[in-house]
Amino acid sequence: MDGNGRWAKKRGLSRSEGHKAGAESARKVITACRKQDIPYLTLYAFSTENWSRPKEEVKVLFDLLVYFLRREEETLLENDIRLHVLGEIQDLPSMARQVVNKACQDTAANRSMTLNLALNYSGRQEILRACQKLYQQGLPPSGITATDLADHLYTAGQPDPDLLIRTSGEKRLSNYLLFQCAYTEFYFSDTLWPDFDEPHLGAALREYRQRQRRFGRID
Ligand code: IPE
Ligand code: MG
Repeated sequence: MDGNGRWAKKRGLSRSEGHKAGAESARKVITACRKQDIPYLTLYAFSTENWSRPKEEVKVLFDLLVYFLRREEETLLENDIRLHVLGEIQDLPSMARQVVNKACQDTAANRSMTLNLALNYSGRQEILRACQKLYQQGLPPSGITATDLADHLYTAGQPDPDLLIRTSGEKRLSNYLLFQCAYTEFYFSDTLWPDFDEPHLGAALREYRQRQRRFGRID
């Protein structure tokens, strides 16, 4: 979800206003995906690298998260959406941690859609953490499979992403789902995240449906 800052700057607004508009955009895209029966949606909300932003901006982002989750938890329940976090929740500011944990617990039985929030997330750290967990189990190294590794990622039990959308014209992976994106289709949009709405999502999905996915085969 990239481009909140540039969206605000273009309008002479503060970066906070940009993030607020970005949160509204996220709400609309979640609703649109649910309507389309998309079973898994992951939003990259905060990377471990984002801690190096100014303290005030980090605070704004977590305050927004708390506000957003408190306001939308009811909607998640009504729409049978399960919230799941990818990342280290225990290092979040305590209010954010509490609200996130509560929303995850309250929605745990929901089945129609899983909404993953990548929060305090690093793809490299996630892979390292999975290796450490496997090591702790004392398995013989030669017996460890790629599936074992996948089973120890934050996304354990979930399918790999079919489509990754990056907004705002950036063409990078930025430490996102490094293991899971091995065969993911990428879609780059110049649209800034706060302007990314249902028609933009529709365009991405239409293009995705045109793609030929071969997974390394020739057929
Ligand atoms: C949102 O957009 C990304 C988050 C970390 C929430 P940015 O804040 O990166 O916006 P730009 O790149 O400055 O436009
Ligand atoms: Mg950015």
